[in-house]
Amino acid sequence: MEAETHGKTGVVNDEVINEVHPPVGVSSLDYKALYERSLADSDGFWSEQARSLLTWFSDFQNVQQGSFETGDIAWFTAGKLNACYNAVDRHIPARANQVAIIHEADEPGQSTKITYAELLAKVCRVANAMKEMGVRKGDFVTLYMPMVPEAAIAMLACARIGAPHSVVFAGFSADALRDRILNASCKFVMTADEGKRGGKTIPLKRIVDAACSGCPCVKTVFVFKNTCADVPFAATRDVWMSELLPNMRPYCPCEAMDSEDTLFILYTSGSTGQPKGLAHTTAGYLLHTALTTKHVFDLKEGDVYACVADVGWITGHSYIVYGPLINGTTSLMFESTPLYPDHGRYWDLVQTHKVNQFYTAPTAIRALMRFGPEITEKYDLSSLRVLGTVGEPINPEAWRWYNEHVGKGKCSIVDTWWQTETGGHLMTPLPGITPMKPGSCCFPFFGVEPVVLDPKDGHELTGNDVEGVLAMKRAWPSIARTVYGDHERYLSVYMNPYKGYYFTGDGCRRDKDGYYWITGRVDDVLNVSGHRIGTAEVESALVAHASVSEAAVVGFPEPVKGQGLCCYVTLTAKAVESGDLVAELRMQVRQHIGAFATPDVIVISPGLPKTRSGKIMRRILRKVAEGESDSLGDVSTLADPSVVEVLIAKVADVM
Ligand code: WT7
Repeated sequence: MEAETHGKTGVVNDEVINEVHPPVGVSSLDYKALYERSLADSDGFWSEQARSLLTWFSDFQNVQQGSFETGDIAWFTAGKLNACYNAVDRHIPARANQVAIIHEADEPGQSTKITYAELLAKVCRVANAMKEMGVRKGDFVTLYMPMVPEAAIAMLACARIGAPHSVVFAGFSADALRDRILNASCKFVMTADEGKRGGKTIPLKRIVDAACSGCPCVKTVFVFKNTCADVPFAATRDVWMSELLPNMRPYCPCEAMDSEDTLFILYTSGSTGQPKGLAHTTAGYLLHTALTTKHVFDLKEGDVYACVADVGWITGHSYIVYGPLINGTTSLMFESTPLYPDHGRYWDLVQTHKVNQFYTAPTAIRALMRFGPEITEKYDLSSLRVLGTVGEPINPEAWRWYNEHVGKGKCSIVDTWWQTETGGHLMTPLPGITPMKPGSCCFPFFGVEPVVLDPKDGHELTGNDVEGVLAMKRAWPSIARTVYGDHERYLSVYMNPYKGYYFTGDGCRRDKDGYYWITGRVDDVLNVSGHRIGTAEVESALVAHASVSEAAVVGFPEPVKGQGLCCYVTLTAKAVESGDLVAELRMQVRQHIGAFATPDVIVISPGLPKTRSGKIMRRILRKVAEGESDSLGDVSTLADPSVVEVLIAKVADVM
């Protein structure tokens, strides 16, 4: 397979920022000893954690079984538990009146709070409403929700009755939503009239209607009132939650789920084909998210924890909903953007709610850095102890800005490396334990055994100061168990490239001190503002346009987004190049995927560089988009080398 590293991190720095950071909240864990034990006595380690962090209806038999080769991984077999019970019910005796969820609405100053007792009642009513309308254990429910508490409530209600949720980020288009509903043959969809984000309105119900018009499988659409706008309503299919809920009993029994029952599926992009629905199961996922949230964010009694991601992504599933709530913490949901109404919004949020842990993405920090640090001085950020980052490598400049201006040099920065597929953090520093290096995700979490492989022959590169592709040598509890409906794809993408290992798709360096540095994806997956986008999906959106005959999409370094999308498009004989056509092509991608995948640059190309056997040379297209056309390498194998000169000129024109 092609495994050259083409992600750009600009990371060359490997200085240790300090020995142990911060002086506050220092954990008493002995990382090294516990890590060694987690590998040497893996069953002992994980069974102890499972029994102490989770509440079981009945105990499990076997801690772990299966292998990467066969893809039959299972944890805590024969155990019975319920995710919602663990996240909500069991906290009632001690925390009924403690705030479970703080909702910071799109408009500042409009936050609401929900206690654990209120959360239980709300979840139960939604669960009963779903049951009333025929949702049964094992039915998949698609959630297309704004960032309001009802999104978390709906997820927990699904978990309570054993109906796996399939959350689709509300920035996806109707076409993308339709594909995801169809893929899991969902009979039930849950949404709201409208969403709000950064002062803009998102017509969720209308998008759901458009998606469902192509989904004969959908029987019921549950609709929450959010903005209370007038929206279309199909009497035979749609139900208003506001009418159902008042009549529902505020208690609903929990289904006893098997450890290996599917808790949810979540779609993510790969290098080929349609998005895949990664399936996460119950016990292992809950345990890993609970344990990582506890240690990586150094949770203490009374903390207010804020992860400003969207529940539509894995970060929201694991680190807004399940991980924090299982730990009985107070989890903040943020409906807005870092720039609304101004670039002080995050810091206003921290000051208002006295946030202790703050978790965001490098792209947001870079966007804020452009305005300068002055605004951070206007707010009281002294409650902060741990600052997290996720989604892409953090460049040392952004790391330092976060450390200095937000953390005031006193907080731990946890650069958490993980993936939709891993369910929870696999590599990260631990607060008060790991001496940090800006830009490095540092060391593996307990029970995680990373290896750096030589991409040429797959052999393990041992020792330090090595670079290759990142793989995992053993399973961890929250590894995705399959690609929904396509186990072959699960095997071929993750398990077959390097036999006996889980392949991450990332390039990686282990430095002289054993620290891990992610160098970016080695496959045709791009990371735009922390959103994962498959180049193949953008290409298929483009070629679906009548004027396009061929398209090739590559990434290029973009200062705020990390990567931008550069789309090379060749037109059909009849089509004419124009500004309008380029605008239409942009719209085409937004319609097929969503606004977050809008191309940054469209290059109408007379031809694409191909080998004589017809394979598009992406390496060359990347170099041209990156403005590195003087280091194209060997172009002599191209069928028509002259096409490259034309592309260089065209790109220089549009960039
Ligand atoms: C890909 C996974 C994990 C939740 C959000 C993204 C990149 C993620 C880091 C990090 C360097 C990172 C990797 C990975 N990535 N976190 N801390 N440092 N790279 O989840 O959409 O499944 O994307 O994001 O390339 O493979 P995802």
